[in-house]
Amino acid sequence: MTSLNLLLWITLGIVIQLVIFLGIEYWHHWIRYRKLPSDKNEVVGIHSRSAENISAAVWNGFRTFRVDRKIIEDEAQSTCSFYLVPVDEKVLPVFQPGQFLTFSLDLPASNDSSEQLMRCYSLSDAPFADHYRVSIKRVPAPPGSHVSAGRSSNYFHDHVSVGSLLQVRAPAGHFCIDNSDDPVVLICGGIGITPMLSMLNETLIKQPEREIWLFYGVRNSSETIMQSHLNTLESAHSNFHFWICASRPLPEEVLGIDHKHEGRVDIKLLRALLPLKAYHYYICGPAPMLESIVPALEEWGVADVRIHYEAFGPSSIKRTTSVVKDNIQRQQTDKEIVVTFAQSEKKLQWKPSDVNLLEFAESNGITINSGCRAGGCGTCQTKILSGEVSYRHPPDYDPDEGTCLLCVSTPKTSVALEL
Ligand SMILES: Cc1cc2nc3c(=O)[nH]c(=O)nc-3n(C[C@H](O)[C@H](O)[C@H](O)COP(=O)(O)OP(=O)(O)OC[C@H]3O[C@@H](n4cnc5c(N)ncnc54)[C@H](O)[C@@H]3O)c2cc1C
Ligand code: FES
Repeated sequence: MTSLNLLLWITLGIVIQLVIFLGIEYWHHWIRYRKLPSDKNEVVGIHSRSAENISAAVWNGFRTFRVDRKIIEDEAQSTCSFYLVPVDEKVLPVFQPGQFLTFSLDLPASNDSSEQLMRCYSLSDAPFADHYRVSIKRVPAPPGSHVSAGRSSNYFHDHVSVGSLLQVRAPAGHFCIDNSDDPVVLICGGIGITPMLSMLNETLIKQPEREIWLFYGVRNSSETIMQSHLNTLESAHSNFHFWICASRPLPEEVLGIDHKHEGRVDIKLLRALLPLKAYHYYICGPAPMLESIVPALEEWGVADVRIHYEAFGPSSIKRTTSVVKDNIQRQQTDKEIVVTFAQSEKKLQWKPSDVNLLEFAESNGITINSGCRAGGCGTCQTKILSGEVSYRHPPDYDPDEGTCLLCVSTPKTSVALEL
């Protein structure tokens, strides 16, 4: 080799090293940039902000957000993510992964009027200082019925676009991942993946060594969302175990490639796969999933305090814990509970089989405004004139003094309600 050739090789080596170094620096810069708030005066990253900053940023009532991006997430085009930035451009408060946002929507109705709806949507990503993300599944009309399709979800898909303004209440909810180092199992069905994405993304940033399992139940790959993101996380973290369970796989789908299990997520699968450890279980999905898995975990011997769940609407999970047993027993012995609806001028006998005051009122012909029907949005808040109600779990929405949330409460004594 001539000395000229040698010189060329050395120069090439230096150039390659320089390019790699600049590439890595650029990548680090980009990662830092993603975490920075849009207000460039706020130079603190989301994970290093002090408690003072966080509490200062929490807002009361509704705040206006602009849709910054709208992204379809699945092959079936039924789930869409909305990236929301505050119009005031101030830093957003940190939320607990698993929490949700409440939206107040003005939907166009007939005769140039509008219909006000309140709906909750889980935050579907880790907290960032400059934006929130929610992912919304379109709810079709039940096949063969004259009932209309889901109002809010279809409004989001069809009428909310980049630049749209939305009225949003601050993050709320008690279904949040714990901060311990205990191993954790996330179980979800369908759109119940959204709070899990937030929990997972945040945990792998903050506690990258924590053992975490995700069981994601879908019918088939057409409705799976963010699969490539989840696969990438699984490749990058040996402590993250990701199982897609397809209950109705398409003929072309292959076990081991498109999904890891054929069938629903059930206790048999969990018992077969999970080592004997004290896991925390977080479950979110359709009511039948919760109603089968939660009692099965209890029967398996999982402590009550380690089972956390959320339904995206009404569900009636049969818990075997002492608190619930006491409640049922009390209601069974308390034969004379009477519920009075003052404005509707109705006095009705409550039965132990009645699920909650909202359904009780509706089944007796009383119309009541409702939103989430799960204790999250406050729409069904009603004044108590006399008597007491009880809640199975503390509701996510904090009702005003002297009121109750009908959708998640039952009468403790005979009760008179304003409606
Ligand atoms: C805490 C929480 C978090 C949530 N997070 C998410 C999330 O991350 N992503 C998500 O997509 N959803 C989420 N949801 C669910 C969401 O809030 C809405 O309930 C969902 O989008 C459906 O609302 P909608 O207005 O589209 O449907 P609605 O208009 O409320 O209709 C609901 C169902 O009732 C049927 N229906 C309509 N009218 C009638 C009638 N007259 N008689 C009988 N049936 C009727 C509809 O066909 C539909 O099947 C969450 C809910 C809660 C409580
Ligand atoms: S309907 Fe949302 S709190 Fe009752």
